[in-house]
Amino acid sequence: MAFFKNMLYGGDYNPEQLPEKVWLEDMEILTDAKMNSATINVFSWGLLQPSEEEYDFSMLDKIVEMLQKHHFQIVFGTSTAALPAWMSHRYPDVNRTDFYGRPHKFSHRHNACPNSPTFRKYAPRLAGKLAERYGHLPEVVCWHISNEYSGECYCENCAKVFRVWLKKRYGTLEKVNQAWNTNFWSHRFTSFEEIVPPNYLGDGIPGDKASFAGLSLDYNRFNSQSILQNFIDEKQAIRKFDSKTPVTTNLMGAYKPLNYFEFAKEMDLISWDAYPSFDTPASFSAMMHDLMRGLKDGQPFMLMEQTPSQQNWQPFNSLKRPGQMRLMSYHAVAHGADTVQFFQLRKSVGGGEKFHGAIIDHVGTKDTRVFREVTQLGEELADLKDTLLDGRTPSRVGLVFDWENYWGLEFAIGPNVELKYVDFLHHYYQEIYRRGIAIDMVGLESDFSQYDLLLAPALYMVTKEVAEKINDYVAKGGTLVTSTMSGLVDEHDNIHLGGYPGPLKEVTGIWVEEFDAMPTEKQVPVAFLADEVAASGTLLCDIIHPQTAEVLANYRGEFYQDTPVITCNDYGKGHAFYVGTHLDTRGMARFFDEVLRKVGITSEAWPEHVEVATRKNQQGTFKFVMNHQEAPQKVNLNFSGEDLLTKKTLTGEVTLPSYGVFIVKVNEEANS
Ligand code: GLA
Ligand code: ZN
Repeated sequence: MAFFKNMLYGGDYNPEQLPEKVWLEDMEILTDAKMNSATINVFSWGLLQPSEEEYDFSMLDKIVEMLQKHHFQIVFGTSTAALPAWMSHRYPDVNRTDFYGRPHKFSHRHNACPNSPTFRKYAPRLAGKLAERYGHLPEVVCWHISNEYSGECYCENCAKVFRVWLKKRYGTLEKVNQAWNTNFWSHRFTSFEEIVPPNYLGDGIPGDKASFAGLSLDYNRFNSQSILQNFIDEKQAIRKFDSKTPVTTNLMGAYKPLNYFEFAKEMDLISWDAYPSFDTPASFSAMMHDLMRGLKDGQPFMLMEQTPSQQNWQPFNSLKRPGQMRLMSYHAVAHGADTVQFFQLRKSVGGGEKFHGAIIDHVGTKDTRVFREVTQLGEELADLKDTLLDGRTPSRVGLVFDWENYWGLEFAIGPNVELKYVDFLHHYYQEIYRRGIAIDMVGLESDFSQYDLLLAPALYMVTKEVAEKINDYVAKGGTLVTSTMSGLVDEHDNIHLGGYPGPLKEVTGIWVEEFDAMPTEKQVPVAFLADEVAASGTLLCDIIHPQTAEVLANYRGEFYQDTPVITCNDYGKGHAFYVGTHLDTRGMARFFDEVLRKVGITSEAWPEHVEVATRKNQQGTFKFVMNHQEAPQKVNLNFSGEDLLTKKTLTGEVTLPSYGVFIVKVNEEANS
């Protein structure tokens, strides 16, 4: 069931930051653009609670009334993402201490220590008051707690709470010592009080490395859970007064410090903020949308924020080209978004975001390119009504994304500084995406059996349970692709003894003896044995001994020339492929030709920069045909049906305009 009755079209609106005389103008202008929603009250704590004793909702009442009068649906912020100055001054426990051990003064936003008793008292109190006052209003369609939860705190209080957390997790100090292998570098602890958080003054290393990854992993888990607890505190406070309205907080794609799969369990629906750079490949944006869809097993998400054109915080804040904002909006929808929202509705007057794009620019009129484009999209979305809502993405391929693996892999000192988890995964995503094949991003708790093909590259940390789950998946007929840097450690970052890839040795049918690390751009030639297709490997080269696996490709250089680089093992009814290097695009293409042939998934031959993505709901099957480039492109469709945007029937060869989009409601009979 869809969360909203129509597609929310709107965005962050901060009238309290604007002169009151423009408010009414805004209402008219935004209504003309067919905006139907506003996200309010994201940063107003200072106004709402001017002192410890006082609350003042008078301005917020006015804003809410105005939005009601103009038929806006409201995404209601709880305002707890930025502390009031008095609180920071009177109760320094709310201020964070950073990685360098520096206690912060009142500053910026997203700034509360998650374990501060003061914050944990006042943030939910405010959320509760808001729910009590506004939760019953029919216009309030969603609660938006805090904003872009982020960062870490290393204060003394967090350290204390961490020690309590450790006692609960491990029971005894001896177990902590074992888990963190503390005989290394004389780290044996004789009391919990001796344990310090892994910051710059402790065992953390700038650039996200760690001397004691077991400790650092636990601190990441602890910090992520502490921040999640802040979300839960506020959600519970809201639920005392409002039992129904869905509750979310806006996420940030593959944001590293927070385990979003854990967050997803507590969130009613996922929302996220998409801010690609001018040069972010469409495949990367697609992967991020898919990750957000994957957090709740395919449930549609909210595109809570995007800029209509310009950002201000990137090194190069290029304008979105004409048509690009519309394309990117539909791109999100194609991958599972049920809303299209912006940051923000009117451009800031002062402060650090005055050069950040908005629907209404400083000129204050409708006569802008951005406004015209936003209006065109608004009209189209209004016309689509609920047609696309709650659409699901049928996919036969899953790609494992796991925050603990992300942390663990990147904490490791060695073997190659250029090994980056998200990029490594994107390399695989991109190869499948390029072929027009839908992918689900899946967590380790997902049901693998729904996929014909499971990709789990760089699955560095594999617990016994995960190994069993993978073995079971393959034994029952699944096909697994894993790679170098997999199966190396347990949940404490201790190596699985007995040879790499540890608990994946059996399913992959290999033993990896060593891995060579390549400096930037160094390539090792590789050849596929069946047809001598030549490719190359970079980054890492595993030296592999096949045990039961068949060899598909060998190295053709270095001292390990003519030894295996890619293998495939039959295991039960399924197969497990192992890729011992980072293949170039030629190698990936050749490799996945073979893998996909084995699982019976066919690729679609769309021109470069053209993407076709599918969503399905009770109203039909919708194919989004998207041109991610400025030049128009010809595409030969292998389906036909009406384009919901132009109302024309499309079939055979069609021309996609610059950054053009068609949403074809597939004519099921003709295509079956
Ligand atoms: C984030 C925040 C917004 C705003 C935008 C600017 O997504 O949530 O408050 O700062 O960035 O891009
Ligand atoms: Zn703290």
